[in-house]
Amino acid sequence: MAQYSENQLPSVASLNETEAQQELARLAALLLEANRQYHSEDAPSLSDAEYDTLKRRNAEIEARFPHLKRSDSPSLQVGSAPSDGFGKVTHAVRMLSLANAFADEDVNEFDDFIRKYLNVGADAWLAYTAEPKIDGLSLSLRYENGRLVQAATRGDGEVGENVTDNARTIADIPQTLYGAPAVLEVRGEVYMSHADFAALNAQQTAKGGKTFANPRNAAAGSLRQLDAEVTKARPLRFFAYAWGAVSEPLAETQFDAIARLNALGFQTNALTHLCQTPAELLAHYRSIEQQRSTLGYDIDGVVYKLNDLALQARLGFRATTPRWAIAHKFPAELAWTTLEAIDIQVGRTGALSPVARLTPVTVGGVVVSNATLHNEDYIAGRDSKGNTIRGGEDIRIGDWVQVYRAGDVIPKIASVDLARRPEKAVPFRFPETCPECGSPAIREQGDSTRRCTGGLICPAQGIERLKHFVSRGAFDIEGLGARQIELFFNDLDLAVKTPADIFTLAERDAAHPLKKLKNRDGFGATSTTKLFAAIDARRTITLDRLIFALGIRHVGEVAATTLSRHFGTWEAFEEAITAALPTSAQWEELLSIDGVGAVMAESLVSTFQNDAERAAIDALVAQLREITPVAWQAATDSPVSGKIVVFTGTLEKMTRAEAKARAEALGAKVAGSVSAKTDLLVAGPGAGSKAKKASELGVEVIDEDAWLAMIGDA
Ligand code: IVH
Repeated sequence: MAQYSENQLPSVASLNETEAQQELARLAALLLEANRQYHSEDAPSLSDAEYDTLKRRNAEIEARFPHLKRSDSPSLQVGSAPSDGFGKVTHAVRMLSLANAFADEDVNEFDDFIRKYLNVGADAWLAYTAEPKIDGLSLSLRYENGRLVQAATRGDGEVGENVTDNARTIADIPQTLYGAPAVLEVRGEVYMSHADFAALNAQQTAKGGKTFANPRNAAAGSLRQLDAEVTKARPLRFFAYAWGAVSEPLAETQFDAIARLNALGFQTNALTHLCQTPAELLAHYRSIEQQRSTLGYDIDGVVYKLNDLALQARLGFRATTPRWAIAHKFPAELAWTTLEAIDIQVGRTGALSPVARLTPVTVGGVVVSNATLHNEDYIAGRDSKGNTIRGGEDIRIGDWVQVYRAGDVIPKIASVDLARRPEKAVPFRFPETCPECGSPAIREQGDSTRRCTGGLICPAQGIERLKHFVSRGAFDIEGLGARQIELFFNDLDLAVKTPADIFTLAERDAAHPLKKLKNRDGFGATSTTKLFAAIDARRTITLDRLIFALGIRHVGEVAATTLSRHFGTWEAFEEAITAALPTSAQWEELLSIDGVGAVMAESLVSTFQNDAERAAIDALVAQLREITPVAWQAATDSPVSGKIVVFTGTLEKMTRAEAKARAEALGAKVAGSVSAKTDLLVAGPGAGSKAKKASELGVEVIDEDAWLAMIGDA
């Protein structure tokens, strides 16, 4: 649907807190309604791709603004609340969703992630099951002493609909199991075959009834009939692929558990394979993809699951997805259209990004009119390593191009049809000067991006830097978002060109008796007063926010926090960076900080050495009242909440990632180095300098077992 084309939405990075809050509310409402239609009315209004895009946008905003996450956040929901008409069933074990993989690299990353989490090396033996992802609706069947006692849809994952009577009419669902655990919840997918779907629609047409858009909707609509007799007449099928509550383990591995379900009388998918490497997973994925059109039922990807159930238990779950499984989706839809123009956008760090302007075309249900072209090499037919892509073919204005959206927010160009290239089409000449300020745009060695060298004189960089400056992890000024920055930047009287100008805005406004901000469209007295107060309030800022807000290349939020923890005060930071010319003692100190490398150090130093940049920084700092040390998170109610914990040495019962995730889930802050602020050092064997430093500083040091006992995991 056109109105949700992602290209028209402001980028997540540009949202300020107020905008983010509004956007989260809008997405929650949109996705809730889409969920309701999808699950309750079997008539989706958003395409799957569009739904994914919005959900991803929601997740991105939440990642940037964790404290704005709503209690009804779509990221906490895996379906929709059950509709009226069916009884409600609270699932004994939550019914979860799966994280998605789209590219081959994602599968390697999945394997790497699991190995890291479990602390097993790259060559350790791990197995995964790989099986088709059935495009139907999930159902949980509860058996007690071998008898089917309840069938429930997923609903919102916590509470589903009681569809027991209907499920009993499905031939693939056994009423009685022999030799099953006393309690067994079997989970799987209800689906309809292509042949049955076509026959059902023909039948519905013949009797003037409602036809279904696709087999999945037909399956959902058929299962959720208030009259079980109607369901009985519908050819529904069921594949078992998982389980919920069990009174005793089904097996030790995923593969054996599925075999056990099969032996108990369930249909399990014959394309379930055991694989040992990501390469084998990918080979099986390709094989399933090739068979896709002949399977006779819809699948939309391949699901990989770690085979060992004890390891699955160690990996556990994120909010709505298991860490031990992933759905590798089939590629998104493709569409052909004309490349009308190539525009160059200039970012905060001066990067020139080519954007394809396309004749609008629907891709997977979404109207696409822009696509990224990445950089000049990509247009020329080369990747970042200089290897040819698209057979070395370049992309030209006027070309007939194939667009795709692979779960990504920004559409991309897959290929060019040379047979349809207009005769007059010429190779695209990537600008060597900035289209915004005319300064030379250069490529540094090893960088695929051409950058404007205009720095502060470039209006595009200026505006983007200011947007960054007021963004959420930075100064986060209420009422001052991307929209206002654009307005104030371009206004001759208000002239907000640099961060310091934000703090003198009220003064300039006061100097203009006629064109006061409060008299302008969209402002008014109250909001202007509030804006000035919000700006004034930010004259007190934490050091990490200030460093991040400067927008120095390679210095992101994490680095800014690291630097502010290391230096403690602005004066110490500024003095060190100013003096940190390569080979100086300060340069060595900078490089010794965990998380600071030569590239970042060089970027920091050159910014502080640049006269114009330095003047802008000094002018900003002169406007501030107080630069405070980094604040820590407020306490919750676990024994370690609010504590600053450092892990060092070898952990034997968990990996660092696992330990960190667990500690953070309990409200602790995990730091990389020991300082006077550290509350606790968890030291495994081989702990070195950190343990020494901790004991010097009088920081409590405990071993891994004591840590587990403290957090109640022993
Ligand atoms: S495993 C805890 N395996 O896909 C993980 N799910 O996008 C449980 N689905 O909610 C799910 N085929 O409805 C699993 N072979 C398969 C699947 C499958 C289809 C569905 C299921 C799930 C959704 C996640």
